[in-house]
Amino acid sequence: MHPGVTVDPGQRVTVDGKLVRPEEHVYIVLHKPAGYVSTVRDPRGRPTVLDLVRSDARLFPVGRLDWDATGLLLLTNDGEMAFRLTHPRFGVPRTYRALVRGCPSPRALARLRRGVEVGGKPTAPARVKVLGREGNATWLEITVHEGRYHQVKLMGEAVGHPVLRLTRVRMGPLRLGRLPPGRFRHLTARELAALRQAVDLARPAGMVRQETPAKARISRPRGERHGEMGPGRD
Ligand code: URA
Repeated sequence: MHPGVTVDPGQRVTVDGKLVRPEEHVYIVLHKPAGYVSTVRDPRGRPTVLDLVRSDARLFPVGRLDWDATGLLLLTNDGEMAFRLTHPRFGVPRTYRALVRGCPSPRALARLRRGVEVGGKPTAPARVKVLGREGNATWLEITVHEGRYHQVKLMGEAVGHPVLRLTRVRMGPLRLGRLPPGRFRHLTARELAALRQAVDLARPAGMVRQETPAKARISRPRGERHGEMGPGRD
């Protein structure tokens, strides 16, 4: 068989007469601490988010969080899910808590909500809530529906309020909750079902739903194809 051939679920694949089983899909939420890069390997030898996770699966991060950013990062070996979660067509919302310098005026907040020019292109409308003050800075909760590079930091800069700290607390139906920094957990079956629904991968009605563990992947309906795409950026 040549590399890159698509195999339908249920098809048997053998190599040298030995049955090859597809890798089980694994979905992990990590609370990324600052000081880790969101890549599988770093040419500069810095610690990567994969150093924080124990798994035999070939995981990669879905989208990215900056080296100094913290919070919810999904790791998986499901290329199709990763592709959809980072594709603008699906507009999966990401919510961040951002500590910004100063106290944004109502006008600055309105600009953030409406969209600001970033890299020569306006950002899509965002939800922005003021959470409170910390010294001479302000905590904002910002929800965006696109995953542009350094998006939240560039939005802050565009309105004159640079981001001092940044944490992602939600991605689509997933929440960081009380997961401590540096720790990870597998998605629950319920979370996985919600995630699949968010990116139009929900199974047709009538299929048996698995309510337990998480790791054990819900099998796909016959005829649904796998597509392997690399992880996107956030
Ligand atoms: N926006 C940023 O600026 N940085 C991140 O890590 C994520 C979103």
